[in-house]
Amino acid sequence: MAQAPVNVTVTGAAGQIGYALLFRVASGQLLGADTPVRLKLLEIPQAVKAAEGTAMELDDCAFPLLSGIDIYDDPRPAFDGVNVALLVGARPRTKGMERGDLLEANGGIFKPQGEAINAGAADDVRVLVVGNPANTNALIAQSHAPDVPADRFTAMTRLDHNRALSQLSAKLGVGVSDISKLTIWGNHSATQYPDIFHAEVAGKPASELIDEAWLTDDFIPTVAKRGAAIIEARGASSAASAANAAIDHVYDWVNGTPEGDWTSAAIVSDGSYGVPEGLISSFPVVSRGGAWEIVQGLEVSDFSRQRIDASVQELTEERDAVGALGLI
Ligand code: NAD
Ligand code: LMR
Repeated sequence: MAQAPVNVTVTGAAGQIGYALLFRVASGQLLGADTPVRLKLLEIPQAVKAAEGTAMELDDCAFPLLSGIDIYDDPRPAFDGVNVALLVGARPRTKGMERGDLLEANGGIFKPQGEAINAGAADDVRVLVVGNPANTNALIAQSHAPDVPADRFTAMTRLDHNRALSQLSAKLGVGVSDISKLTIWGNHSATQYPDIFHAEVAGKPASELIDEAWLTDDFIPTVAKRGAAIIEARGASSAASAANAAIDHVYDWVNGTPEGDWTSAAIVSDGSYGVPEGLISSFPVVSRGGAWEIVQGLEVSDFSRQRIDASVQELTEERDAVGALGLI
């Protein structure tokens, strides 16, 4: 019997990441070339027409794996039966907005979406939050979905991971596939810590191939501030690379990560590496049997400890701020 389509809900479908993402999902790159998908697009009412335009284009691609498209402006039906939820739509920071305002505005989006996932998602639902502040938005959604296992809520640091791979490969003049075991720790923000101390380049420790000055003055700030650099250069935040990272994250989550390597994802902390339990923080992870697992037993130097702690501290402050606003 033909496989039933997997329901993929994409929020912010009419936005720029949505435009870079949907065609790849519909072509089979999210879940694999044998898996039919049904797209459920969620937008705010003012953007539904634009989402309809994108849906027309998706139809015009005649993707064999795309079994249908539905468009909603209400989270309840949009998440009904969802297997994979890509939460991309978020409230961007605008002029004069304080951090608390931004967290509050996003609480107004991610709380009802978490409730809708709780009410109607399929038993195997997997959620990836892309919309910023991604880790804390994921925490808000997760805290309003008490019937869904917490480990199904994740936030995206795969773009940071891919940026780190690209920077290191350019520095060393090697291919990205020669590099393994890089890690992004913490928040998807400028405090994130891209860690090369366990990384290997064609089997050799990366730390033996680079000097500390490049690491501290170039690599770490370049990766951590790459999002801002893209905004500066493009006049808009990263879109195709963000969509690509979302595809990588979900593909690996469902299909497993390759043996001998790991990747980075922000997942609910179980207390590993001193990250307070319940925070959604980036870790070195593998996917086995369709679930993320934190890579255990890595030695953490003082250099790394300080940087992990700083980013985790920021996540703790964000959690406290949304807690004070009654959002979790
Ligand atoms: P965009 O402004 O082009 O699109 C966002 C879309 O979300 C808009 O169409 C808007 O109408 C929609 N939206 C707003 N509220 C919504 C709601 N309640 N329900 C459904 N849709 C809603 O933005 P973009 O460039 O596509 O970026 C989307 C988000 O992704 C931003 O928050 C951005 O900062 C973030 N981002 C994250 C990463 C990452 O690595 N985690 C990387 C790049 C961008
Ligand atoms: C990115 O990392 O490219 C984005 O999160 C930047 C942003 O602020 O949208």
